[in-house]
Amino acid sequence: MKGGYEEIAPKEASSSSSIGRTFLTYALNVALVLFLFGLVWFILSRVKVENQNGNGQKTNLHGSELENPIELDYNTLNAHRRQFISNMTLEAWNAYVKYAWGKNEMHILHQNTKGINDTDVLDYLNKMIGQSGLTIVDSLSTLWMMGHHDQYQRGREWVKTHLNFSNISRSVNVFESVTQYIGSMMSCYALTGDVMFLEKARQVADSLEPAYSSSSGFPFSYINPKWKSVDHWGNQDSSTVGSSVMLEELAGQQLEYEYLAYVTKLYGERVQQLRDVLKNIGPKRNGLYAHYYEVFPNGELDSGATTLSDGAFYFNLVKSYIQTNGTNTDSLRQFQRAMMALEKAKVFTKSRSGLTYVRDVRYSLNSNFDHYEYGDSMTSDTCYVGAMLALGSETLLMELNRNENETVEDIDRQEQMDQIVRYGNLAKELTETCHQASVRSRAGLIPFEFYFNERDDANNSRNVFHRNHIFRYDVKMMIICCT
Ligand SMILES: *[C@@H]1O[C@H](CO)[C@@H](O)[C@H](O)[C@H]1NC(C)=O
Ligand SMILES: *[C@@H]1O[C@H](CO)[C@@H](O)[C@H](O)[C@H]1NC(C)=O
Ligand SMILES: *[C@@H]1O[C@H](CO)[C@@H](O)[C@H](O)[C@H]1NC(C)=O
Ligand SMILES: *[C@@H]1O[C@H](CO)[C@@H](O)[C@H](O)[C@H]1NC(C)=O
Ligand SMILES: *[C@@H]1O[C@H](CO)[C@@H](O)[C@H](O)[C@H]1NC(C)=O
Ligand SMILES: *[C@@H]1O[C@H](CO)[C@@H](O)[C@H](O)[C@H]1NC(C)=O
Ligand SMILES: *[C@@H]1O[C@H](CO)[C@@H](O)[C@H](O)[C@H]1NC(C)=O
Repeated sequence: MKGGYEEIAPKEASSSSSIGRTFLTYALNVALVLFLFGLVWFILSRVKVENQNGNGQKTNLHGSELENPIELDYNTLNAHRRQFISNMTLEAWNAYVKYAWGKNEMHILHQNTKGINDTDVLDYLNKMIGQSGLTIVDSLSTLWMMGHHDQYQRGREWVKTHLNFSNISRSVNVFESVTQYIGSMMSCYALTGDVMFLEKARQVADSLEPAYSSSSGFPFSYINPKWKSVDHWGNQDSSTVGSSVMLEELAGQQLEYEYLAYVTKLYGERVQQLRDVLKNIGPKRNGLYAHYYEVFPNGELDSGATTLSDGAFYFNLVKSYIQTNGTNTDSLRQFQRAMMALEKAKVFTKSRSGLTYVRDVRYSLNSNFDHYEYGDSMTSDTCYVGAMLALGSETLLMELNRNENETVEDIDRQEQMDQIVRYGNLAKELTETCHQASVRSRAGLIPFEFYFNERDDANNSRNVFHRNHIFRYDVKMMIICCT
């Protein structure tokens, strides 16, 4: 369970899904964090921030001392960083090749692909998706963009000769498979035009077809590609949260299918189905979208909780507008309304020292009056929100200029202009908070979860497990800023 809900979460919502959420959190990052460090980069290099560390010494963005920060040439510094990250990527890749080639992920300390025990996320991932080269699939577009073409070729050969998604004979998560397999391969196709990737992406999509056959129209959460059996979330074990589906699962598959359909002129039905599902769930209370929706009978609200960790949903609303060259204005309107509802529910707030952060909100479904309970933490993956708001702000500005003489439904121009400014500022503030969460930790790395309360201010003195830094996120985050 995320956020500060350990105390207030109802029992049924906490047990079975915690590892699943960690799991989905992982996917969320894969899909979304690519923007974050780009933003951090952009903002920080623009305003030429020179941090003061505790001793009042000037430090650079890596936290090391600089001789003369004033004369620093940011182009040179950025080139150095790019090279540094490119080197790190190669090092990580080489270790993967040496110890875990063809497996999903490797355990760094154990230098193998086994987790420490069953509660280990890595072990869980290998179990859930199978040993099907996830790291390779996931890394290819990055290797290509960084210019590591030999490594890219080696990975490509593996995909060509070994990847057979329909041969996976264990239950895999549908949303993960769409974002990680279809998404990654379509990225490679977009970058290189190599039709092998398009064919592999289609094989994955075809293997996943049974997952879209539910009577409610909601995609199933799990599928066994080989045996074609499907299941909803919560039917996996006895400690069930019911047959519910997470908002980001519903929203997180759309961009991949839109692009696949655009390229192949197939899968139009899937695209329509996913659009309909998103349209029908709607915001349920005061404009807020729920974290979970019940699959039966049809998209009833399942939890009185709203969280921005459902990033695929909110971010995709903006991305969909961009992906469709600005034709999907509904999507941008939906984004605006969702953000306004979040603002109204005070999801964006300030800590006692004035750091802006994003918190989760929980409310009673059975009560007529609104009583909100808030979490007191943020997770490192929620740091994408800064990037999302920056992109949202820019996109709203673009749209406003494009339609300079039109009034926009119920949101007037003045309100939209105010939003553009507000979201731009929020983006900067939130990114600064995430930066603080990094530099305030002893290791200089952002903890998985950090708190805002009487004890902590963007640090973590409470939750020992979530004090960990999940390295993977950063590597993925850093990749885009340097390519
Ligand atoms: C990257 O690696 C190359 C080759 O090992 C090395 O010469 C270079 O100094 C490294 N660059 C950085 C910024 O770490
Ligand atoms: C599994 O590993 C975690 C992390 O090392 C540890 O905290 C936990 O106690 C272990 N659980 C069991 C049942 O061994
Ligand atoms: C299919 O999977 C089985 C194990 O589940 C494996 O032994 C076999 O080599 C795989 N075949 C292909 C073509 O990947
Ligand atoms: C992939 O696996 C499926 C299911 O096991 C099998 O029918 C198919 O022939 C395999 N394809 C290739 C190219 O090996
Ligand atoms: C968006 O515009 C680009 C450039 O004009 C065009 O190539 C592409 O097909 C358009 N995409 C869609 C989804 O309409
Ligand atoms: C908006 O209206 C002004 C004044 O009537 C006109 O000059 C301009 O071309 C219009 N812009 C667009 C995008 O239609
Ligand atoms: C949290 O960070 C602040 C600012 O760096 C520091 O003053 C405080 O001691 C930290 N709290 C804990 C509990 O580590």
